[in-house]
Order: sequence, then structure tokens, then C-alpha cells
Amino acid sequence: MSGINYSEKIPNNVNLSEDRTLQRALEQWQPNYLSWWNDMGPEGAQSHDVYLRTAISVDPQGWAQFGYVKMPEYRWGIFLNPAEKDRKIHFGDHIGEDAWQDVPGEYRANLRRIIVTQGDTEPASVEQQRHLGLTAPSMYDLRNLFQVNVEEGRHLWAMVYLLHKYFGRDGREEGEALLERRSGQQDNPRILQAFNEQTPDWLSFFMFTYFTDRDGKFQLCALAESAFDPLARTTKFMLTEEAHHMFVGESGVSRVIQRTCQVMNELKTDDPGKLRAAGVIDLPTIQRYLNFHYSVTIDLFGADESSNAATFYSSGLKGRFEEGKRADDHRLKGDTYKVLQVANGQLVEKEVPMLNALNEVLRDDYIRDSVAGVERWNRVIDKAGIPFRLKVPHKAFHRNIGALAGVKVAPEGRVVSENEWQANVSQWLPTDSDRAFVASLMGRVVEPGKFANWIAPPAVGVNRQPADFEYVRFN
Ligand SMILES: [Fe+2]
Ligand SMILES: [Fe+2]
Repeated sequence: MSGINYSEKIPNNVNLSEDRTLQRALEQWQPNYLSWWNDMGPEGAQSHDVYLRTAISVDPQGWAQFGYVKMPEYRWGIFLNPAEKDRKIHFGDHIGEDAWQDVPGEYRANLRRIIVTQGDTEPASVEQQRHLGLTAPSMYDLRNLFQVNVEEGRHLWAMVYLLHKYFGRDGREEGEALLERRSGQQDNPRILQAFNEQTPDWLSFFMFTYFTDRDGKFQLCALAESAFDPLARTTKFMLTEEAHHMFVGESGVSRVIQRTCQVMNELKTDDPGKLRAAGVIDLPTIQRYLNFHYSVTIDLFGADESSNAATFYSSGLKGRFEEGKRADDHRLKGDTYKVLQVANGQLVEKEVPMLNALNEVLRDDYIRDSVAGVERWNRVIDKAGIPFRLKVPHKAFHRNIGALAGVKVAPEGRVVSENEWQANVSQWLPTDSDRAFVASLMGRVVEPGKFANWIAPPAVGVNRQPADFEYVRFN
């Protein structure tokens, strides 16, 4: 069951050939997907041979195979984790009942909405990143970008499979609509705002894969608990791919910091002007990028109080992060949770029913996880002997969703006046001139083993290849 059938047009481990109608529907969607990929996938890179990993099984050991592939020929397919025998629902009102192998009628609309919203983020990020290959800082980074891109494409396949198999005609319509929306487009944008922002440069890309792909991890973890078993099994395999995307982000930012610190020590300066003149990104600019990506991403968890969140949990559609490891009753009926609001010009905690605060619960789990990686970045700075610390801003900083939307809060968590905000925002968020400076560094470096001046080489190559390995062959 865990082996993947590659002899079929659509690689899969779900016995697709036994369901002719479904197979035909997906084979009709496939050319539309490819034409979307050719239009909106990595620009100018469709004929390159790229050293990519492809899933060959869903076993934790040895699921990936490495080899040269032209991206439009990547074997996108449908891979679910093996079914757990007699799996039971382990939270919400249906706790203890058998997990669902089909969609219960009363939850159909909500489940479809959850799957479409998740699915929409996948092609969106490919669209956001489509120009980045033209300014890659190395062949190693170029290959990693393409790996992330093809796997986001596969995540779209994962969601479209569920839509086609379990939602009939409206599922197929949603599958088409997923190929029609476009990141950042006025009349038909992607569903979530962070996926309509631009990813114009590689510092943004690394911040995005660190912070925003990590939102993906938390959403997928919550869906991996779902009572709807096919959704749980699909998202579990997506998580193994997601881990690589976050690695690209964490190690990318880390290498930028490492290079900056090296030049700071060589020049014995922390003057941003001098460091910029030396062609590296000063740490305060990295902090502003961090502030931006972090705040935009924590908005993705939704309103701090949400009756939808309560419904999704109680009906068993979406659990909490690591639901199975929590020692409570997994129903949460009488429980409360603290959310933030502004009263008399100050941030104050307010106790609300936990079921309504589950977006906030997931956001707080996410925040703990992202802070850990920022501390690893700080160790790079410490090791260089530089007295500077990166910090995630307060969770009320620069928010656009929920009770904190539009409230002006400084990164350390103090409510400020509109005037104070205006006077300081250029210290807190990337300015046009920060972005222009970072953009000015983005030149294409693609000779094997060479790296742009503003980023350090990685500690090890992909699949333990040597530093000067030819990850991409240009055709
Ligand atoms: Fe994804
Ligand atoms: Fe991802």
C-alpha cells in the first residue's frame, strides 16, 4: 500500500485505476494543471534539468528519490499515508466513534471550504515565487526553490484529489477554480491575504518559507487530526514535504546572517550604511523583514474569537496541534482561554470560551515554534561575538485580522498613537528603500559552487552532494 504506482499517468498509492470515473476526471484536470504550471510556474526554467527529489513511497525511510527532471515532467501524484486500522475520532462531539471514510452530509460544506482554502495556498506560493529563479544567489538555492515549487504543486494535487473523489461535481468545479485564481490579481485573487503579497527577493523568500510555510505546517497538523480520515492521511504525507520548505527558510536566513556577521567582523562595524556598501544585509533590515513576515503570517490563523473555529473542532473537522498528546477531555466545553483586546488604550487579556479561541490556541502554538528557530539564528550572531538579538515582535504588532486589526502597537507590545506609529514605522517594517536595497543585491549567481556575496554557502549539499555539484543543467 505504501509503494507508489508510477506506471500510470497519475502516480498514486490509492488504487486510482480501480475507480475509472475518478481517474478520468483527474486525467482531465491534469492538462489544465500543466498549462497553469507552464503559465505561472518558475519563469524561464521549464526546460532545465533539475536535481529534484520525487516521492517513491510514503515510508518515513527512503520516500525520496533524487535525479534530474524537467519540472513540467515532474511526477506529481497522489500519496496518502497508510490507513490506521480502526482509527477512531479523538476529539469533539463524535469522540470515540469510527473515523469517517466518507464525507458526512451535514459537514460537507465546511469540509469543502477547509480543503479549498488549504488547496488555494499551494498554487499561490508557486505564483508568488515564479520570478525568483532569475535572481538566485547560487545553483544550490535555485534547486531548492524549484523543489519547493514542485512540492507546492503536488500539495495542490493532494487537495484536488480529495475534492474530486469526495465532493462530486462541485469538487471538480473547485478544482478548476483553484487553477483560475491568481496571487495578487485584482479581480480574482487568492483566498488568503498573505498569499497575495509579493515575494520579490530572496530574503523575502527565505522569510516566507520559514514563517509562512510554518503556518502551513500548523494548519496541516490540525487537519491531520481530522475525523475525515482521507484528509488526515493526505495531510500527514504533505507534512513530510513541508519540513524541507521550512529548512530552506531557516537555513537561508541563517546563511544571510552568517555572511553579514562575517563582514561586520572584517570591517569592525555595525553601521548599516557601511555594511550595505560592502554588499551585505544589515541586521536591523533583517529584523524589519522578520517583523513583516511574522505579523502577516500570524494573521493567517484567523480571528482570535471565531464561532467557525468552534464548529470545526466540535464537529471533528479540524483538531488542535498535537491533539493526541494533550491531557484534557478533547471536548473543551467548559474551558476558557485568554485572548488580547484593547481597553482604555492598553492591551488587556480577556477570558473567552476555549472553543471560540481555537484559532488563537493554534496561533500561540505556532508562535512558540517560530521563536525556537529565531533563537537558533541568534546563536549564529552570538558565535560571531556580535551584541545583537533578533526578536519576534509582539503578537499584537501590525495585525489585520481579529480584535487587534488596525490597532497601532509597537514591536515590544506597547499601544502607540497614530503619530508615534508614523514616526517609527520605518524602524519597524521594511521601507521602500530597504526593499530597493535588498533588490539591488539580487543578481543571478549560478556557476556550480559559487555564491552571491550577501549569503554564506550551506554547511552541506542536497543529498550530501559536494559543494560544486551541478544541481541545475540549463537547457
Ligand atoms: Fe504546501
Ligand atoms: Fe510548503
